[in-house]
Amino acid sequence: MSDTRLHPEVTGFFDPATNTISYVVKDPGSDACAIVDSVMDIDYAAGRISYDHADEIIAYIRDKGLSVEWLIETHVHADHLSAAPYIQGKLGGKLGIGRNITVVQDTFGKVFNEGTEFQRDGSQFDRLFDDGDTYSVGAMECRAIHTPGHTPACMTHVMGDAAFVGDTLFMPDGGSARADFPGGDAGQLYDSIQKVLALPDETRLFMCHDYGPNGRDIRWETTVADEKAHNIHVGGGKTKEEFVKFRTERDAQLDMPKLIIPSLQVNMRGGELPPADEDGKRFLKVPLNGL
Ligand SMILES: [Fe+2]
Repeated sequence: MSDTRLHPEVTGFFDPATNTISYVVKDPGSDACAIVDSVMDIDYAAGRISYDHADEIIAYIRDKGLSVEWLIETHVHADHLSAAPYIQGKLGGKLGIGRNITVVQDTFGKVFNEGTEFQRDGSQFDRLFDDGDTYSVGAMECRAIHTPGHTPACMTHVMGDAAFVGDTLFMPDGGSARADFPGGDAGQLYDSIQKVLALPDETRLFMCHDYGPNGRDIRWETTVADEKAHNIHVGGGKTKEEFVKFRTERDAQLDMPKLIIPSLQVNMRGGELPPADEDGKRFLKVPLNGL
């Protein structure tokens, strides 16, 4: 079990292009740290990749003298590209994601008509987490909880008194993430949210995204108690039936995320770009009417 009395230092790095928050989580007893959900920059219109956001995190880690033990992906993101391999190449650390990455790879391997060179066994990652698996960041024991619903591979990572929920929850006034991607399920998402809300009330919850609803400033940290009381989609004792009905109706009206096509092709490879052709050029595909 992770020790929820430990209070790791959590630093958030907001990416305004995708409204993603990446985190550096420092073990209170050492200089060890984990990076959760890094972002690689893309100018999709120009087909140009860059690393400003990741470089900011790298500079922070070097400045503080931290050593990276883990690069955690809470799930296969559909709205931003992971910079995990880029950061790993500079700072080391092991790359981990939920075991069901294999399900996601199978689904999108077909969607993008990938050949046999695209492995669908999760081997692009150093560790595939099962529900309840533990690992350590320095002396701090951490725990992965399987929280599917938004996607099949979603995990919530508990590190001391902090939990990184990915897209299982948004801030209380943001509610919850969509559950209509392939392999998503609104009922499963409700059950997964209940798992997060079963953590101690004072647990600090860190969001993967915030969109500043109703014009408020961007925020990414809340608590279990706050979500239970105030979350507009699940707080105040909303039933599973109410949630599933609402979520399903809402999802039917949402457009696809702007970066879903590049994000899936890169993130299902653990953040690596698709392989280069014989001239050394790399391409992303756009499946027509395929999503
Ligand atoms: Fe997501």
